[in-house]
Amino acid sequence: MDNLFLGIDIGGSGIKGAVVDITTGELVQPRFRVATPKPGNPAAIAGAVKELTEHFNWQGPVGCGFPGVVMHGKVLTAANLDKSCAGVDFAKLFTQTTQCPTFLLNDADAAGIAEMNLGNGKNTAGVVVIVTVGTGIGTALFTNGHLVPNTEFGHIILDNRKEGEKYAADSVRQKQKLSWKDWGNRFNHYLNNLVSLFYPDLIIVGGGASKEFRRYQETLTVKTKVIPAALLNKAGIIGAAMYAAAETAPPVQK
Ligand code: BGC
Repeated sequence: MDNLFLGIDIGGSGIKGAVVDITTGELVQPRFRVATPKPGNPAAIAGAVKELTEHFNWQGPVGCGFPGVVMHGKVLTAANLDKSCAGVDFAKLFTQTTQCPTFLLNDADAAGIAEMNLGNGKNTAGVVVIVTVGTGIGTALFTNGHLVPNTEFGHIILDNRKEGEKYAADSVRQKQKLSWKDWGNRFNHYLNNLVSLFYPDLIIVGGGASKEFRRYQETLTVKTKVIPAALLNKAGIIGAAMYAAAETAPPVQK
């Protein structure tokens, strides 16, 4: 069926996928997850992605979100995976390993595409930043619905000394056993810095922390409107599938 694509979201702790109806964003079967291999070298990650394509008995195009800068299929950075991932053409590697044509993009950009088209960013003009909070902090920047790919605002330096994601990622909350209030204050500090650099019209919080939004919502005093992602942590899978659809669409006839 033309509207079904396999979307995969590679994260620091899990690799998740589902067959997605890209017109509605619905997952047609339950999501399947495998643990991210440790060490997460390219061959091990490709093996895990193959487990997903085999689980779904999938042979069509695959969209895949990757937690690093991705340009033309090639991964340039991978802050939360094995350093050997940098410089590897994962689109090519996954295509060869799975025999399914695979299209790769940054994981937060994937989540952003889904939220802007089917979620809480739908029909929002102006500047919107989607902030995904999980193992790291990912960002996707949109101006009037157009994506500016590979923004890496999770790495902005706070107070001249600490990297945003090392201070306010959800993994930090878990590792340091921070209360939602304490973590919320940190996240608020991070968002204030982000706002002082970009002054977006809207911030949408995605990733694992989006499910728990009401637990820290009150700590957010940032002036910009902040809302949780409607698609929660499924956004990365849905957006990756939408990306595969866009990349395989026939050219529009003029
Ligand atoms: C990476 C980003 C990624 C984010 C969320 C960061 O460490 O640099 O590219 O989007 O983590 O996974």
